[in-house]
Amino acid sequence: LHSRSPAYHNPAFREARAHAVYVPFPVDDCEAFIALADLLDIRGWSVTIPHKKAIIPFLDVVHPETRAIGACNTVIRTVRGLEGFNTDFPGFLEPLLEISGGSLEDMPVCVLGAGGAARAVVYALVESGARVLILNRTVSRAAELASEFSRPGKQVEYGPLDASSADRVGAYRGVIVQTTQVGMHPHEDRDPLEFYRFQGDEIVYDIVYTPEYTRLLCRARDAGCRVISGMRMFETQAEHQKRLFLSVL
Ligand code: ATR
Repeated sequence: LHSRSPAYHNPAFREARAHAVYVPFPVDDCEAFIALADLLDIRGWSVTIPHKKAIIPFLDVVHPETRAIGACNTVIRTVRGLEGFNTDFPGFLEPLLEISGGSLEDMPVCVLGAGGAARAVVYALVESGARVLILNRTVSRAAELASEFSRPGKQVEYGPLDASSADRVGAYRGVIVQTTQVGMHPHEDRDPLEFYRFQGDEIVYDIVYTPEYTRLLCRARDAGCRVISGMRMFETQAEHQKRLFLSVL
């Protein structure tokens, strides 16, 4: 209920002169919510943690990226039934493609974290042809994610998120993507990559948006790196969501 989405979508609906309102629903059970959504003829909705995975079995159309990531954050009601999308996928990728000149083919990319948020990130990177290294505090989670998204000829590498990986970060420093909660409010004073010194040629992308500029991102910017804040990802995924919602209003 602390989501920023109502503040984004309601003005967007007004601007589009759409006869619609976006309201938060506290949901315990996906099936019960869908029954209610049917009764009320709700045209579309956002799905937040912890329901992004649980909703998938109830969808009539699951788009390939939603299936692969295993998480759905947007549902719309179309002639085909309930369609589920993952707008974090384009929301993450588009700002990065914009800054990197349109291609990530063979780009060495280091991803920090291997949790839920890292899934859409790693999938988008692998789909774009990047060479990916995943570093995580719990190495087994990094290993699982790496094996799930590796492809023939495109092995995803993994390792621990600590000083022993500093040289490997250097080797994969084309883009560094931060997906953990380290540095997120209320832990603003923390930097998950404090063991690494930026060269200045890295693109650094932190998907955290509270605060907009994390300690990691400020340190990267001070070293001359190009940086992308989580706010860019949030806004881009919200734009995609808006387009989907407006398509069924
Ligand atoms: P999310 O959906 O936000 O990704 P998650 O699935 O719980 O949430 O994943 C949290 C990520 O942040 C994980 O990569 C986690 O590392 P572990 O797998 O080792 O738990 C990482 N993380 C959270 N707190 C951390 C900390 N204090 N230090 C390092 N990594 C941390």
